[in-house]
Amino acid sequence: MSTFNVLISREELAKKTKELAQRISEDYRGKELLLVGVLKGGFMFLADLARELTIDVSLDFISCSSYGNATVSSGVVRILKDIDYDITGKHVLLVEDLIDTGLTLTYLKDLFTAKGCASVKVCTILDKPSRRKVEMIADYEGIVIPDAFVVGYGLDYGEKYRNLPDVCSIVSE
Ligand code: IMP
Repeated sequence: MSTFNVLISREELAKKTKELAQRISEDYRGKELLLVGVLKGGFMFLADLARELTIDVSLDFISCSSYGNATVSSGVVRILKDIDYDITGKHVLLVEDLIDTGLTLTYLKDLFTAKGCASVKVCTILDKPSRRKVEMIADYEGIVIPDAFVVGYGLDYGEKYRNLPDVCSIVSE
């Protein structure tokens, strides 16, 4: 049985999610907003964020993986599942679990800009700014965490622990 240390509780996550949703609802009122969840890690945050919004939105998902091992991003991003919609003229908000080096979102922002959407912004529930390899500032930034490997609330280690409701460090496996 694995043991964990809770770093960010589900209550803190819910409070921050609500704050972000309020700002997003105000900023995009009257606009056509497409939320794009970055799979797999972003699934839980996207589900919670979407339910706190007070505006109509469309939803889509993109799945990508960076080449590298379980704990180190290599910076080379591979698209495993692209979005389904034509996004020309739409306002896109990329919804991510965690910005680490910033390489994934830099790649995705460029990709979406090239697809011709009206705007591309980034929302993340967790941020490790101390780990950046490229400049990436989230338009809607959640909770800043120190440089430690975390799991839960969508985040995995070797595909495990995504279902934990809190953000945790692994004590023993
Ligand atoms: P980056 O910003 O391109 O380095 O990559 C961000 C992605 O790497 C996140 O969306 C996570 O999927 C993964 N990642 C980065 N740090 C962690 C961590 O501490 N635990 C689990 N996944 C992580």
